Amino acid sequence: MDLSTTWLGLPLKNPLIAGASPLADDLGMVRQLEDAGAAAIVLRSLFEEQIERDTAGYFDTVVAHHESTAEAAHFLPQSSEYLLGPEKYLAHLEKVKKAVSIPVVASLNGITPTGWLSYANLMAEAGADALELNLYHVATDARHSGAELEQQLVETVHKVTSGLRIPVAVKLSPYYSSLSHLSVALGHAGARGAVLFNRFYQPDIDIENLDVLQTLKLSDSSELLLRLRWLAILYGRTQLDLSCSGGVHSEVDVIKALMAGARTVQMVSELLHCGPQRVTEVLAGVEQWLTEHEYESLSQCIGTMSLWRCPNPAAFERGNYMRILQRARYT
Ligand SMILES: Cc1cc2nc3c(=O)[nH]c(=O)nc-3n(C[C@H](O)[C@H](O)[C@H](O)COP(=O)(O)O)c2cc1C
Repeated sequence: MDLSTTWLGLPLKNPLIAGASPLADDLGMVRQLEDAGAAAIVLRSLFEEQIERDTAGYFDTVVAHHESTAEAAHFLPQSSEYLLGPEKYLAHLEKVKKAVSIPVVASLNGITPTGWLSYANLMAEAGADALELNLYHVATDARHSGAELEQQLVETVHKVTSGLRIPVAVKLSPYYSSLSHLSVALGHAGARGAVLFNRFYQPDIDIENLDVLQTLKLSDSSELLLRLRWLAILYGRTQLDLSCSGGVHSEVDVIKALMAGARTVQMVSELLHCGPQRVTEVLAGVEQWLTEHEYESLSQCIGTMSLWRCPNPAAFERGNYMRILQRARYT
C-alpha cells in the first residue's frame, strides 16, 4: 500500500508526524520515532518571549512591568524554566537533523511581527526542513478588534515567510470568526500549510488557596471532532496544506482526519502515553484498513469526506445543527 503524502511540498513516506512536544528533546527518542515509522518530527516551540528576553527591549518592557506588582512576577516563566534557550535550541536542532533522515520541523511560537522572527532564518540555517509558526494568542485587550488581531497575524506570517527558504505552516486556534477567510489570507501572506489546532490549556481555579492552577491533561479522541469539522470546511477552500493536531490516537482517527481533508496527522498525547512503537501499530492499522476497503493509495482518501462538493457548506452545517436539536427529546 502506498502510504506516501506530501506536506508543505515535502515528500513524506506516510502521513504520521510526531507533533511539537518534548518527544524531540531526546536524540534517542527521535531515532526511535524514526525507526517506528514517523514520517517527520516537530520540535517543541521556541517562544517569542524567550527570544525577546535576550534583547534590551525585553528589560525595558516586560521586566519593568513584572516587578510592578508581586502577582505580575508570575505572568511569564523565568528563563530557567525554559528547557532550551534560543542558542541551545539551534544547537539541538542541528543535532536532531544529523540524527535522523526524516524531515525535521522547527517551531516558533509568538504573534508580533517584530525582530524575534529572524530566528526563522537561523532555524533554516541550522537544518530545519520546515517551520511551524504557532500563533497561540488569547485576546484579552478590549481595545483590539478581531479584524485587527487577524491582520497582525497575517503581517507576522508575511514577515516570517519573506526571504525564508523553507516552507512555513501556521498552527492555529479554532477561535476565529472566519477561519476560512483567515486561512486564505495566511496563504496569500506566504504560508504553505495550516495545523488545526492548537490546544488551549485551560487554567482552573483553586478556591481555597485563591490560586490559578495550570493543568496539562493529555488529549483523547473526542478532541478530534472539532478538527474534523474544520478540516472538512477548509479543504479545497484554501491553498494551504492541512495537518491535523489534537485527538489523534488510533488508525481510525488518522483515517477520519485524512478523509476530512488533512494531508498529515500529528500525534503527541498518544505517543507520550504509549511510546514511539505506537507509530508502527497505528500505521499498520491504517494500511490494513485501506487494503480491506480496496483503496489503492492513502492519497485517494484525502478530502473524500470534506465539504468541498457541497455548494453551500454553511447551510449544510446549519442543517445538521437544526436536525440534531429538533430530534432531541426529554425522556
Ligand atoms: C507536554 C506537551 C508539550 C507541548 N509543547 C508544544 C510546543 O512546544 N509547541 C506546540 O506548538 N505545541 C506543543 N504541544 C501541543 C501538541 O503539539 C499538540 O498540538 C497537542 O498536544 C494536541 O495533540 P495531541 O492530541 O496528539 O496531544 C505540546 C503538547 C504537550 C502534551
